Amino acid sequence: MNSSQSNRMIVIDGVDGSGKGVQSRRLLRSFDEVGLPAILTREPGGSPAAEEIRQLLVNGEPEKWDDMTELLLMYAARRAHLRDTVWPALEAGQWVISDRYADSSRAFQGIAGNLGLDCVEAVHRIATGDFEPAAVIILDVSETVALERAALRDGGEDRFEKKGKAYHARVREAFLQIASGDPDRYQVIDADQPMDRVSEAVVAAVNRRFALALAVNREID
Ligand code: TYD
Repeated sequence: MNSSQSNRMIVIDGVDGSGKGVQSRRLLRSFDEVGLPAILTREPGGSPAAEEIRQLLVNGEPEKWDDMTELLLMYAARRAHLRDTVWPALEAGQWVISDRYADSSRAFQGIAGNLGLDCVEAVHRIATGDFEPAAVIILDVSETVALERAALRDGGEDRFEKKGKAYHARVREAFLQIASGDPDRYQVIDADQPMDRVSEAVVAAVNRRFALALAVNREID
């Protein structure tokens, strides 16, 4: 699979607590409701092998992995996810909605971490070739709202949460920086708005980008 083949991959990305999970589930339902075949997947994880790698990444103390090891584990998981889930689905003509993808590595490990963007781009090319998603929606959220949402979730899988406020503020800025570099692929949505308004903006962005007529789902949370 390369970018010249039919590419119907839509990524929803952003800081922790931006509401990506709900918005991804609602978007999947919007596709289901008009009978367009779609799958919802996530990173790190999204295939049985990649979910095994996820467990190594999201549990334990922050210093368990240094930035480079973390990046390589993310890309090991990403490659397994592409090979076993994303590419087969795209080849079968399905839409693929992914809760996070490579921009999380660019933002968390590259720009907010210590590796720098060039390092991530080099690993990215080696691991994934020229494949890129067709559209990326970045949910941008203030720290106050992100913390409120994160506090509502149950514990566990908190290795990244423990990296601290300053790191997460850098991650937010990093996503905005990435998005500003390619306005055709990226759409930034203000996720401080009430959830239903965010859903309306997500569906509007997808309809515009792919000339679809999806309706907004406001029921799933
Ligand atoms: P995620 O499952 O989205 O966590 P949550 O559901 O709690 O928002 O992602 C787990 C963590 O992994 C999250 O803090 C972001 C981080 N991450 C990276 O640092 N780099 C990556 O490439 C990916 C995909 C995720």
